[in-house]
Formats: sequence, C-alpha cells, structure tokens
Amino acid sequence: MPRRRMIYEGKAKILYEGPDPDTIVQYFKDDATAFNAAKKAVIDGKGVLNNRMSEHFMTGLNLIGVPTHFIKRLNMREQLVRKVEVIPLEVVVRNVAAGSMSKRLGIAEGTSLPRPIIEFYYKDDSLNDPLVTEEHAIAFGWASQQDLDEMISLALRVNDFMCGVMYGIGVKLVDFKIEIGRIFDGDFQRLVVADEISPDSCRLWDIETSKKLDKDVFRQDLGDLGDVYAELATRLGVMPKKSSTSGPKLVD
Ligand code: TMP
Ligand code: ASP
Repeated sequence: MPRRRMIYEGKAKILYEGPDPDTIVQYFKDDATAFNAAKKAVIDGKGVLNNRMSEHFMTGLNLIGVPTHFIKRLNMREQLVRKVEVIPLEVVVRNVAAGSMSKRLGIAEGTSLPRPIIEFYYKDDSLNDPLVTEEHAIAFGWASQQDLDEMISLALRVNDFMCGVMYGIGVKLVDFKIEIGRIFDGDFQRLVVADEISPDSCRLWDIETSKKLDKDVFRQDLGDLGDVYAELATRLGVMPKKSSTSGPKLVD
C-alpha cells in the first residue's frame, strides 16, 4: 500500500490525506508537550490511549447529536475524520477555576464557578495563543457572530456530555479545550467538533481524592503520565488489551 501523503505535523498528532478528498487520517503520537512545547517528552503508549479516549468521547457526542469530525478508528494510533476548515480559535470551557484563569484573575484553584465560563484563545503559537474576545474574532474575520453563537452552544453541549461521562467514572471535569471546524455542504456550512478530546486537553480531578488525571501531571511533574492515562482509559472501559511481548504485534 503506498504511504499516505502527510498534510501537517502538530505537537501531538500527524495528519495524512485520507482515502477520499473529504477525509483525513489523524495519527496520535506519543509526544507530550507543555508551555508551547518549551517542555517535551515521549510518553510510551500515550498516542494509543488518546486515540481510544478521543474515539470514545467523539462517538458518544455523535450519538447524542453533537456533530463531530470523527468517522471511525482505523487502528491503534489512527482514526479517520472528516476534513474540516479549522476555525483559528481554541474554545475553553471552565466549570471550576484552575490554570491560567486562576493565575490571571487571582481566583483560588478549585473554586466552583457559578456557571460554565467560555473563553476564546487565538490559535497562534508565535503569540502563545492569546486570550481574545468575540469582538476580536469578528473584527479580524476569524469567525462571524453566528459562528461564535454556534460555537458557544456546541461547547456547552460538549461540556454537559463530558461532565456526565466523567461523573460516571468518579471524575470532575474542571475545564477543557476544543477546536471547531467548518464543513461545507454546497452553499451551507456546518460547524463540528474537530481535533481531539483527550486528557491532553482537559483538566480532570478524581472526585474523592482530587488526584489529577490529565496533562497537568506532566506540566507540573506530579507523576507518571502514562500510568495516569492508563487509569483513566481503564475507568472509561477503553483500555486496549495487552498484546503478547513476543512475536508480531496485532493491530486491533
Ligand atoms: P489553561 O488554564 O492553561 O488556559 O487551560 C485551560 C484548558 O485548556 C485546560 O483543560 C488545558 C487546555 N489547554 C489545551 O488543550 N491546550 C493548550 O495549549 C492550553 C494552554 C490549554
Ligand atoms: N498545548 C501546548 C503545548 O503543547 C500547551 C499545553 O498544553 O500546556 O505546548
């Protein structure tokens, strides 16, 4: 089989041309980065686990009618997705104060917020993904008011779904980031959840112990990220079965 053409290599994933012009293959790498790639490591098996976990969340979202780009998982590290035009805004939803919001506004980490708070960050690594307002997004043509309204509505639906899934496994969804893309259907455009949803892009705290089960473990050197992701995948029921250590490896 001819090797697929690479379209883009990001920090945690590689995108290849898919079998049809409107599809893409997303390959999940084992690389972990933080602070705009100032901190880097390779976490054995992380790509396999994030592929499974993102599949699990995106499949659930598709099933309850929240549109995503996800079509199907292809193998241990790859999934087939719809090609979208990614809107250059990271959409962050926060249920509990943490991270950059706690720092910026001086609100103690762990403070429950009175309602989910949505923030937009302009996707530009050379600027360190700055926080922007809807006014910026409209004035600079990144998204229209209608896009932003739809993005907020999608983000809140993802939040409700993800809060429920996490509650079911004893985990609090503190905050998360999603990316949203446009799909064109003739003259019409639809917005769908794109990229990935995984513990790389969420804050997840155990409800009983407050133990962190997300990429903060790597950002803050709190332990072994691979172990934490394996625990989360096991709780979610998507932990891949161990293959034998000798002989050829089965791709399942
Ligand atoms: P923050 O508190 O650092 O702004 O992060 C908010 C959420 O967004 C958190 O769940 C981690 C996620 N996130 C990403 O997915 N990518 C990023 O580049 C950053 C900075 C945060
Ligand atoms: N995603 C960013 C990076 O890879 C920042 C982060 O997640 O902390 O460097």
